[in-house]
Amino acid sequence: MIFDSVEMAPADPILGLTVAYNQDPNPDKINLGVGVYKDADGRTPVLQAVKDAERRMLAGETSKSYKPIEGDANYASAVQHLLLDRPNESDHEAIKSKRMVTAHTPGGTGGLRVVGDYLKANHPDMTLWLTTPTWANHPNIFQASGVPTKSFSYFDDQTFSLDFDAMIATFEKIPAGDAVLLHGCCHNPTGVDPTPQQWRDIGYLLHKRGVLVILDFAYQGFGDGLVEDAVALHTMLEPGREMLVVSSFSKNFSLYNERVGAVSAVASDAKTAQTVLSQLKRVIRSNYSNPPGHGSAIITGVLNDRGLRMNWEAELSVMRNRINSMRRMFVEKLTERGVDRDFSFIGQQRGMFAMTGFTKAQVDQLREEYAIYIVGSGRVNVAGMTDNNMDRLCDAIAAVLGG
Ligand code: LMR
Repeated sequence: MIFDSVEMAPADPILGLTVAYNQDPNPDKINLGVGVYKDADGRTPVLQAVKDAERRMLAGETSKSYKPIEGDANYASAVQHLLLDRPNESDHEAIKSKRMVTAHTPGGTGGLRVVGDYLKANHPDMTLWLTTPTWANHPNIFQASGVPTKSFSYFDDQTFSLDFDAMIATFEKIPAGDAVLLHGCCHNPTGVDPTPQQWRDIGYLLHKRGVLVILDFAYQGFGDGLVEDAVALHTMLEPGREMLVVSSFSKNFSLYNERVGAVSAVASDAKTAQTVLSQLKRVIRSNYSNPPGHGSAIITGVLNDRGLRMNWEAELSVMRNRINSMRRMFVEKLTERGVDRDFSFIGQQRGMFAMTGFTKAQVDQLREEYAIYIVGSGRVNVAGMTDNNMDRLCDAIAAVLGG
């Protein structure tokens, strides 16, 4: 039979872990695998601002006809302003000059795949450089698009900090015409980002060398704030510089299953931007034709309404502050237990994730003996920690590490 020759694919290292977690009968199990925010009660909430926008949307909706291939113009505009607006400043030059264009994509992953297919079709000699480590799905996406990838050192796993010198040393050698995929903030999996000055240096160097910057921007607002987290964009996007930005609203709007994101291209001028958009549309049309409507209507409804936006920003800061307080508590509780390692770096990292440095054997032991689910690389989702599971978690880690 034809299907008999098909081989079983390996489980996804992140989403496969959720499947195993769901099957685990242990009532005290803890999931620190997939990057999904949990509140203090361990629930992934629907934000109130989202609920309110949905109510209005349902009342006002008159049609479910197809969207334009690139999505609605008011969504694109809302996304651009979220990315680039700064308090008390006029519109960013990239918006005013119309050299920024935006297409609505199904989630950040969908956006990355659109970028991959666009690169393959329009820049066939380009190699894409990825941070080491990076999100486990990045290599899969670009391999599926047929874009060759190489890696550069990003994280020093001895000091648990940015390996800036090694990164710059690689950037000095990247050939013109290649691209670098950087994480806009809250690097996944390390939680380690460049400082504003380092972003400035990176942007200058890559522009000088003729290397395209692609920002995967999935955690805006989860680090230090919406504007603060856009520092990479603000420092690198100077007049005349090009960039691709992939946005995801899974996390900051808690809209995981609505699959809502975007690809923005910033070209040298408005005419070139329209040309790039035409190619993005071509990729989208042959892939999923045009985007789904529900999630983008929520985003637009929230961002374009003063009251809903204020409420959303307040809910976002609750999520951000909870994650940062879990980081502090995790370090304190491990220290209290006399764990023979300094975990203070976790308090300095930002976003959902931290690299613990746990070995594969320790990760396996935590899962098998304590029903604690951590990605094999030793990445933990800090947003899965709560006041209620913290003691059990830290007891188990102390036992495994030999506290
Ligand atoms: C993660 O890294 O856990 C998230 O981005 C979810 C995913 O799709 O992997």
